Amino acid sequence: MTINRKVQTLDEFTLQQLRDFPLATGELSSLLRDIGLAAKRIHVEVNKAGLVDILGDTGSTNVQGEEVKKLDVFANNQMVGVLRHGISCAGIGSEELDDIVVFDDETSNKSKYVCLFDPLDGSSNIDVNVSIGTIFSVFKRVSELGKPAIEADFLQAGSNQVAAGYIIYGSSTMLVYATRRGVNGFTLDQSIGEFTLSHPDMKCPETGKMYSVNHGNFFQYEERVKKYITACQMKDSTNGGPYTQRYIGSMVSDVHRNLIKGGIFMYPGILDKPKGKLRLMYECNPCAFIVEVAGGKATNGQMRILDIVPTKLHQRTAFFTGSLKMMEELEGYLDGTLG
Ligand code: AHG
Repeated sequence: MTINRKVQTLDEFTLQQLRDFPLATGELSSLLRDIGLAAKRIHVEVNKAGLVDILGDTGSTNVQGEEVKKLDVFANNQMVGVLRHGISCAGIGSEELDDIVVFDDETSNKSKYVCLFDPLDGSSNIDVNVSIGTIFSVFKRVSELGKPAIEADFLQAGSNQVAAGYIIYGSSTMLVYATRRGVNGFTLDQSIGEFTLSHPDMKCPETGKMYSVNHGNFFQYEERVKKYITACQMKDSTNGGPYTQRYIGSMVSDVHRNLIKGGIFMYPGILDKPKGKLRLMYECNPCAFIVEVAGGKATNGQMRILDIVPTKLHQRTAFFTGSLKMMEELEGYLDGTLG
């Protein structure tokens, strides 16, 4: 068998992008390579999770009041470490940490980017061998370069993201990242230890057959959401239902599948948590950015996710994202023109 296609690694790809844009400084490429390094280290630990004493709880809870698993801590430390020691990031915000971390050294203060991340999304799946992921979001600072980053650098609307991405630790490990120019996916080739371009210029299919939602919460959703979910199960759904229900419990995995196959993911508000569970800055903004660049949509049910101006680092939001036509159908149910 002859393989004609040249294999392009993540580093080669980002360098090629630099060549195409001679005015670029290379800072974003360098930051992405740092994240790629953290991803490889997390991949190694995730893959030996059953062999060593790394599974299970640390016994502490994070700022969200959720149990912190050991791999969450490891993943968080790797992300903070590579970004702190790299030369392209002035500070970070992490779902696992109460406050932003400003690196505040001469090199970091000159960096124009800050990064927000969920080091291990879907951590309740760690102990049961189900896909989990790392999600990240990159903003250009609004504060003066040469000085330490400030909170306002992080509290920006998602539409200001310059890049966003995720890494899935699944049947293979894959890094997907988006800039305004497009979404590209790289699969970890373990034989050379490099992420290689496997899914160039990813586009979210206009429609699909899958819907992802926690059905256990059904009776706590507002009526219009219930109507849409019921429509997903009906034959007369405008996109040719009934749809198939898939819900992994790692949003990043559900969003990834829907990005490739088409579909819709929902985490609506529930009675006692009207803003749902997911965090705007660490989970929803980056996924919304990626899905929109790929041609899909993302809203909180009332407005575009990327237009929300955050007031708090750890704020939550209801989240609906996926294929364009499925999202339009959902919006019809939410605004009362359908159903
Ligand atoms: P965590 O990282 O704490 O496991 O949360 C995962 C998130 C998200 O990835 C997933 O879709 C959702 O929580 C699942 O929550 P429910 O169990 O409430 O459906």
